[in-house]
Amino acid sequence: MKFGYFDDLNREYVITQPDTPLPWINYLGCQAYFGIISNTAGGYSFYRDARLRRLTRYRYNNVPMDFGGRYIYLRDDESKEFWSPSWQPTRHELEDYSCRHGMGYTVIGSSYSGIEAHTRYFVPLDENLEIWQLTVTNKRATKASISAFSSIEFCLWDAQDDATNFQRNFNTGQVEVEDGVIYHKTEYRERRDHFAYFACSEPGAGFDTQREAFLGRYRSWDKPATVEAGQLTNSIAHGWSPIGAHQVKLDLEPGETRQIVFVLGYHENPKDQKFDPAGSQIINKKLVKPTIAKYLDPKNADAAFEQLRQYWESLLGIFQVSTPDIHTNRMVNIWNAYQCMATFNMSRSASFYESGIGRGLGFRDSNQDLLGFVHMAPARARERILDLAATQLPTGGAYHQYQPLTKRGNNDIGGGFNDDPHWLIIGVSAYLKETGDWSILDEPVQYDNEPGSEQPLYDHLQRSFHYTLARLGPHGLPLIGRADWNDCLNLNCFSDTPGQSFQTTTNKEGKVAESVFIAGLFVHAGRELAAIANRRVLGAEAASYLAEAAKMESVILEHGWDGEWFLRAYNDFGGKIGSKECEEGKIFIESNGYCTLAGIGLEDGKAASALAAVGEHLATKHGIVVQQPAYTRYYIEMGEISSYPPGYKENAGVFCHVNPWVMIGETRLGHGDLAHDYYSRINPSAREEIGDLHRCEPYVYAQMIAGKDASTFGEAKNSWLTGTAAWNYYAIAQWILGIRTALDGLEIAPVIPTSWPGFTATRSYRGVVYKISIERKGEGNQIALTVDGSEIKGNIVPPPTDGRKEVTVTGILS
Ligand code: GLC
Ligand code: GLC
Repeated sequence: MKFGYFDDLNREYVITQPDTPLPWINYLGCQAYFGIISNTAGGYSFYRDARLRRLTRYRYNNVPMDFGGRYIYLRDDESKEFWSPSWQPTRHELEDYSCRHGMGYTVIGSSYSGIEAHTRYFVPLDENLEIWQLTVTNKRATKASISAFSSIEFCLWDAQDDATNFQRNFNTGQVEVEDGVIYHKTEYRERRDHFAYFACSEPGAGFDTQREAFLGRYRSWDKPATVEAGQLTNSIAHGWSPIGAHQVKLDLEPGETRQIVFVLGYHENPKDQKFDPAGSQIINKKLVKPTIAKYLDPKNADAAFEQLRQYWESLLGIFQVSTPDIHTNRMVNIWNAYQCMATFNMSRSASFYESGIGRGLGFRDSNQDLLGFVHMAPARARERILDLAATQLPTGGAYHQYQPLTKRGNNDIGGGFNDDPHWLIIGVSAYLKETGDWSILDEPVQYDNEPGSEQPLYDHLQRSFHYTLARLGPHGLPLIGRADWNDCLNLNCFSDTPGQSFQTTTNKEGKVAESVFIAGLFVHAGRELAAIANRRVLGAEAASYLAEAAKMESVILEHGWDGEWFLRAYNDFGGKIGSKECEEGKIFIESNGYCTLAGIGLEDGKAASALAAVGEHLATKHGIVVQQPAYTRYYIEMGEISSYPPGYKENAGVFCHVNPWVMIGETRLGHGDLAHDYYSRINPSAREEIGDLHRCEPYVYAQMIAGKDASTFGEAKNSWLTGTAAWNYYAIAQWILGIRTALDGLEIAPVIPTSWPGFTATRSYRGVVYKISIERKGEGNQIALTVDGSEIKGNIVPPPTDGRKEVTVTGILS
């Protein structure tokens, strides 16, 4: 069952039924001011940090679902009926409801009793504000008197505190109202120099800023007393819960359309210019007023929207493909690239599933996310890399996350995950391959944000690599530390106390538990680092990385091999994990996927054997599960992985993030059909038809799909902010379609389905546009390349040396 459809031409997903199985969301903003918006206008806004600078309130895990939002009410002042054109919060019946989620904007609207209304929500580029453009049309044959109401609920900035510290918060709320603009200034009197504002383009017939005055006692947002009565009360909030609501009266002739613009924004004043007049307690509004006035003018709002459209047009234009598969095209050209940008902006911090207060930007997550967005935002990728590296510890280890506002690392969600440092090498390598900007390696970067500790970024990569060499276990495999990529494989934790966090509770300084996954990652990272070292003419150093990688590879083949597939790990007692000898958890995806991705066992058939076993034991019609058999009870020596009921999350769920490792592994074996088949099983667009089972948005990846052991097999959860976005994008673009960035140019090595006659692509790379067409003449993956009419040797197209800005590449597969 579907709840809408893709409008590919407009790059929109159109939802046609408001009660989707879960809120289907979109993101507004792409720089510093952000919002989450659902298909019924639920969601919230924040400036930079979803916890510390939350502008509006949202109630997670509430009933009804998805409450708190950017709500509009319309009231027919003759019949006194009122409704919300976005369905929530009134949930009144509607005609022609639609929600168009587009690139950085959302339009929600409907008709009711001859009144058509749509609101377009977006955040202009380079501004810390959001615009709501409400358009109301009278489709009746008679005049209509309509009151339009806007409403938001302010959050008292720190979202965590806002939801818990009521004895203080009920006293601190403050607002000002001037010229119809509502200013939210809680704590501005003391240490904050920022405030929020909510403005309306039309002369107001009233406002409210105190929640209770607006809603009435014991009422909710579905039935505010003021909206029912048709008149706001001009309340001023003193403590309690400040809100912002405007009322505008519209007298509409038959056929007449009117537009009202609302602007909600964030502003920071210089510390010494907070008040006007100086010495008073009144907000200095001089600096913000021009911005407010600008965007209340619909012409300027439209122009800003057009700029946003062009911004996305140019980002997505960097890589466009046309293949025989519509789901591939749609995801690569539009939605997967778009999701990669959202994951880059938010990491795992704010979604319908991440409350915006628990997690900052993850070290390993953000590094991996680079794979998906570096081509669209190289300058920001550079900055992100340097920020991440600056949180690295002098040991080469890493904090697991950092907070975007302070850019400092912390241990709030644990530390000592021994895979973390290697992702920095993978991320930097992706950046170098995309940009060729070798200067980044010489950038001085602090350790642990300590002034004076600066070393070139390259030094950070060296320490990342050596971190593992200094932490090898009894078999010569890397010690796992707190966990590796799988946060929930906690082999040193032994937690027996309810409520303890597996990630932050005291961990044993284990010297036995080893990870075959980290070993595979180490081999991969070591070879990437060697290639980088070679370019810096550090031949001997490169050779030593290669030697260490080769040594680790042989350790894996000796101690990390179970006969048919790669082992997953050794536990604290030296026992095997992910082996035939185990009762449960005999085979895992991570080690098998990553080792083959890294090219381990390609020559001696081990890679082929491992992936065949993955196909046999782990692959399902809804994707590849993490392990089998699922853990049916809690194993204290395994940790969180066995805390999940079978089929969910790391305990044998389809963790979509890691499926691409197997896809890439299959391409390394030359299996284009299977690689693309695996790709399609979790491709959200290809799952649109089963929307009632899948339940999450059909336009973005979810972190997880319930595995075959779960009673909800096939149901997705945790959409949007997941490493799945970057890895799937990387797998399809660079390995299946095979348009791959290399240090010296663009490599063309497709491993596509045998049934495809070919495909075409456009790729902008280092300032040159590559027009690529691939034609299949035989069933294999051998490619012969012609560049601007001349055959070239090998499959790397070097950048043109004669200043050409466009090259035509033809590839014949045989
Ligand atoms: C989540 C985490 C990621 C981790 C994965 C597996 O996606 O953000 O860091 O690798 O779960 O546990
Ligand atoms: C895991 C999640 C991971 C998170 C960990 C700790 O289930 O997949 O993202 O880091 O739990 O909460």
